Amino acid sequence: MGAESGIWESLLAVRHRGGAAPAQRSEEPPEVAALLELYLPYAQVPRGRPLAVAHLGQSLDGRIATAAGASRWVTGEADLLHTHRMRALADAILVGSGTLRHDDPQLTVRRCGGRHPLRVVIDSERRLTPFYRVFQDGAAPTLVLACADRVPAGERLGQAEVLGLPRGPAGIAPRHIRAALAERGLHFLFIEGGGITISRFLAAGALERLQITVAPVILGSGKPSLTLPEIVEPGEGLRPRLRRFALGDDTLYECVFHD
Ligand SMILES: NC(=O)c1ccc[n+]([C@@H]2O[C@H](COP(=O)([O-])OP(=O)(O)OC[C@H]3O[C@@H](n4cnc5c(N)ncnc54)[C@H](OP(=O)(O)O)[C@@H]3O)[C@@H](O)[C@H]2O)c1
Repeated sequence: MGAESGIWESLLAVRHRGGAAPAQRSEEPPEVAALLELYLPYAQVPRGRPLAVAHLGQSLDGRIATAAGASRWVTGEADLLHTHRMRALADAILVGSGTLRHDDPQLTVRRCGGRHPLRVVIDSERRLTPFYRVFQDGAAPTLVLACADRVPAGERLGQAEVLGLPRGPAGIAPRHIRAALAERGLHFLFIEGGGITISRFLAAGALERLQITVAPVILGSGKPSLTLPEIVEPGEGLRPRLRRFALGDDTLYECVFHD
């Protein structure tokens, strides 16, 4: 087992089995030190502490996909591995209906060790068909969130359970999503996209952290990363505390909104 995979297994043990944190030594190889710096804070999140972390991979000009919706792949291999590691640490992975329609993702942990978390899809108007992989493959439990007035009692979508939540002025309020998942013991959420879903969480103040991986590419058109209510002066923009990591040729900016 290489040093990196050994450390990764220790991080999983800390997160899921209450193992001791790997000892940090000054002569650590740089890749091991970077792994610990990025993931140890997540591995050590106390059970039951609410934590919503979102991630987007975007171009230099802030696009997460082409206008046709193709997003494979804006960022590189190292960022893909990063998303699988975050999945393995989280209790649940969440995506919007647009991401399911365009990507039909599996939302499982395949590029690193670790168990699959619960998969959550927001389909507020219940328009998705049951033919997407997450509803059919049985690889991990899957939950669909929809407005309660769209959910007949006991409805399933393929193998997925469908849960109705209150309809708010802008769809389902992120705080209701977090509360419903917390009731099921799911506190550490990894929100994988797309831009609309993550923007709604951010606008509602419902994200503790936002990870934006920037790839050195300009798409010049396409689906935007974040879209928030308009501001007038640049000074009104959000200026969160940042952690910064190199992921291959890409750069991960982790915005810390709340500890
Ligand atoms: N580069 C990346 O990191 C990345 C990651 C993921 C996806 N993508 C790409 O991004 C595109 C999809 O992103 P997107 O921004 O267009 O869509 P999205 O965020 O995946 O889905 C948005 C839709 O989800 C539902 N939704 C999300 N939050 C909701 C809420 N709080 N209340 C009610 N409904 C909610 C709404 O649809 P309903 O009205 O149908 O419920 C909404 O229109 C695809 O092209 C995909 O390939 C890129």
